[in-house]
Amino acid sequence: MNRFTDKVVIVTGAASGIGKASAQRIASEGGVVACMDIQEDALSDAVNGINNNPDTSGAAFSYVCDIGDPKSTKKVVAAVIKDHKNLNALCNIAGILKLQNTLEVSLEDWNRILAVNLTGTFFMCQTALPHLIKTKGSIVNMTSTAALGSHPWTAAYAASKGGLLSVTKTISIEFGKQGINANSLSPASVETPMSNNAKLPEGADYDLLKKILPFDGIVRPASDVASLVAFLASDDAVHINGIDVRIDGGMMT
Ligand SMILES: NC(=O)c1ccc[n+]([C@@H]2O[C@H](COP(=O)([O-])OP(=O)(O)OC[C@H]3O[C@@H](n4cnc5c(N)ncnc54)[C@H](O)[C@@H]3O)[C@@H](O)[C@H]2O)c1
Repeated sequence: MNRFTDKVVIVTGAASGIGKASAQRIASEGGVVACMDIQEDALSDAVNGINNNPDTSGAAFSYVCDIGDPKSTKKVVAAVIKDHKNLNALCNIAGILKLQNTLEVSLEDWNRILAVNLTGTFFMCQTALPHLIKTKGSIVNMTSTAALGSHPWTAAYAASKGGLLSVTKTISIEFGKQGINANSLSPASVETPMSNNAKLPEGADYDLLKKILPFDGIVRPASDVASLVAFLASDDAVHINGIDVRIDGGMMT
């Protein structure tokens, strides 16, 4: 498949996990991938890895930025347009998670999680939209099954992802007539540094923990989610607009 030949795609969170796997997948299908992340060294390693991978028929480029700072992302999106002329898809994958008992959520943690996962991601969409309208492009926003229910210890994270799910629907209806399609995807547990490093709150109740473990016990690799990101960002999904796709092995069914 070469669905991204001559297409320019922004992938945020491209230094690690699902973002990195998505950038690799899109570049392996011919795409020019503008890889964004706050971790400069890890981003550089990821981009080199993509460009040196024999499966890559496109190319990857680094853009260091903090998604939680709309001024920084505005500059970086402008740089992507200057460097590559067009924008065909925006994949907002960057995100942060902290598992916390609701009684222990600090205002600082709440604000940072919302700033990155919701506010920053919204302003990425706002900044990219005028460019995406020109190409009748796509937006793919990463939410989570935490937005849908069943997850303890995720008050800020679930709020940020639930908000993003709603924002995505708003964009899909507001810009659908102009050829934009905007969708979200909600994975459950995926094998990445985020899930591997997530610390449970002290004294976490095992009955509640069971609610966020995959019911078949299988934590899937990031590449499984990357294939859905690539599909939603491609012309194969051109008539899919305003939906959230669960990728959870049926966990929330
Ligand atoms: N891993 C899971 O089980 C899982 C499940 C559901 C949803 N998700 C979502 O998938 C997305 C990717 O998560 P992952 O599991 O690959 O995690 P990850 O930690 O491996 O990757 C997240 C990437 O986002 C980057 N990032 C974080 N804050 C940033 C900021 N302010 N500016 C720019 N980049 C920033 C990180 O540096 C990192 O490279 C996240 O939005 C996450 O919420 C993950």
